[in-house]
Amino acid sequence: MGNLTREHFLDLETAPRQDLQKIIDTAYTFREVLDRPIKKVPSLTGRNIVNLFFENSTRTRMSFELAEKRLSADVINFSASSSSLTKGESLKDTVQNIHSMKMDAVIMRHPTPGSVLKLTRFVDATVINAGDGTHEHPTQGMLDMMSLHQKFGRLKGLKVGIVGDILHSRVALSNIFGLTTMGAKVTLCGPPHLIPRGVEDLGVRVDYNIDDVIDWADALNVLRIQRERMGVGLIPSVREYRDFFGITAERMKNHKKEIVIMHPGPMNRGVEIDSVVADGGQAIILDQVLNGVAVRMSILYLLLGPNE
Ligand code: CP
Repeated sequence: MGNLTREHFLDLETAPRQDLQKIIDTAYTFREVLDRPIKKVPSLTGRNIVNLFFENSTRTRMSFELAEKRLSADVINFSASSSSLTKGESLKDTVQNIHSMKMDAVIMRHPTPGSVLKLTRFVDATVINAGDGTHEHPTQGMLDMMSLHQKFGRLKGLKVGIVGDILHSRVALSNIFGLTTMGAKVTLCGPPHLIPRGVEDLGVRVDYNIDDVIDWADALNVLRIQRERMGVGLIPSVREYRDFFGITAERMKNHKKEIVIMHPGPMNRGVEIDSVVADGGQAIILDQVLNGVAVRMSILYLLLGPNE
């Protein structure tokens, strides 16, 4: 089972507080390793890990690969676009073939919600969710929480606004589950038709006025507006979205408020966030990226490393 209460890392919805705390605590140790001249430890020597990406990724994919290599694991990368999936091979056959090569862990990103749970039935290996459709992105949720913890020294009672297309965002859902489990207060903000009905049942508030949310929050997690949703009625125009919900230079200047700005990436500069804000002193966006490596090292170590 490893050092967490779960064999796999599939979601933050069912992850207990003790696991989330342990992942953050252990990530601090690995964050320190990443600052050393030699950024490598032998913790997962001899362990085999495959990164299965059925969807594009920059941060998550590189971050997992780096985390695995920093822990001295043997790594295989699989990309759907250059595989026999293009010749019609099924996901099940693909995964079973990969698994017969004796993998200890499979990291998967897939466009279908629930695909990672399904994968646990095909393989006798530890499965980690790198984003399954609009469901969850739990390692992003963990790195966001670690970044907030690093900045504020606590999560309990922290006021976090999540802004954007909540309905289609796996990052939002993992943040909601993780932050509420850790005792933070969460307010969602975005166009009304992009906020799921009844989401308050998850223990969060909804406020459609971004200026009120900025006044209230200690930190804002600004979500990417998915351009593929524009022009199909969900987001009428970039300009309108920016006017109502954009974290613009002008809006931040008007508020004159110390508030931490986060973004999971990839960013649409000039749409949901202005460059002046994204590159400014309030933003911790690049800290999130480095913390992502530490958090993924932590999760891999706790699931695959020696029992403590
Ligand atoms: N934050 C995030 O998941 O980015 P990628 O899609 O580049 O992995």
